[in-house]
Amino acid sequence: MSHGIKHVAIIMDGNGRWANQRLRPRVWGHVRGSAVVSDIVQAADDLGVEALTLYAFSTENWSRPSEEVGVLFSLLHKFLLRERRRLLANKVSFRVIGNVSRLPQETKTLIAKLEEETRDFNGLKLTFCFSYGARMEMLHAVNKFIAKNPGKELTEADLEGHLMRPETGNVDLLIRTGGEQRVSNFLLWQIAYAELCFTPTKWPDFTASEFKRIVESVSKRERRFGGLSPTADKNLPRPEVQSIHVQ
Ligand code: FPP
Repeated sequence: MSHGIKHVAIIMDGNGRWANQRLRPRVWGHVRGSAVVSDIVQAADDLGVEALTLYAFSTENWSRPSEEVGVLFSLLHKFLLRERRRLLANKVSFRVIGNVSRLPQETKTLIAKLEEETRDFNGLKLTFCFSYGARMEMLHAVNKFIAKNPGKELTEADLEGHLMRPETGNVDLLIRTGGEQRVSNFLLWQIAYAELCFTPTKWPDFTASEFKRIVESVSKRERRFGGLSPTADKNLPRPEVQSIHVQ
C-alpha cells in the first residue's frame, strides 16, 4: 500500500467521559463505541491496512463495576453476531487475544467458530485484545519458550514467535483516542518503533475520515528506526575518512 502503514493498533478510550458529558450512564458510551468499531474495521480494510489490533478490554478493566464488565462482554458478543457475514465476505482473519477464560461460554464458542472460519483468510488481520495486558503477553511468551526449550537462551525472534498473534508483527501506528497520552500496557513489545498519535476525540466521536487523515499524515513522517535519514549531513562537507581516529 502506498501509505506504508501495515499494522495499526488503537486504544479506544473516552467512552465513559463521552457518555457522562451527555448525562448518560458510562455504558451508553460503550454502546455507541461499538458501532464505531465496525466503521473503523471497514475503514482499515478500505485503506489496505494489513493488520488492525483493538484494545477492547484490559486486564485492569476487571476492576470496573460488574454491570459495566457485563455490558462490554455483551457488546463483544453482539459485534460477532452482527459482523460475522461482513468479516467472512471481506476475507478478514479474526482473532481474540488475551485471557478469554472468564467470558461467557456462548461468547467463547462464537469466537472459536469465527477464528476457525477465518483462519486461512488473507485479508485484514483483525485482532481484539480482550482481558489483555502486554506484560502478561510477554511473560506468557517467555514461559512458553522456556517450557519448550529448557536452558536455551531466548532471542528476540524467539520471543516474537511466541507472542499471542505473531503474524501481525510490529505496530507501525498506535492511535489513542480520548486525549490521554499513555500506552496503558498495550502491545509493549510490538510498539517499540511505532509512530504515536494521541487524538482528543473521544472514541464514540471517532470517524473513518479522522482515521484516514491520521494514517495519511503519519505516513508522511520519516521513520528512521534508530538509523539516519538518507539526507542526513547531505549539505555538510564530507569528512576525510582516513583522518578520523577512534582511540
Ligand atoms: C475505554 O473507555 C474503553 C473501554 C474500556 C472499552 C472499549 C470498548 C468499546 C469501544 C466497545 C466494545 C466493543 C466491542 C466490539 C468489543 P473508558 O470507559 O475508559 O472511557 P473514559 O476514559 O472516558 O472513562
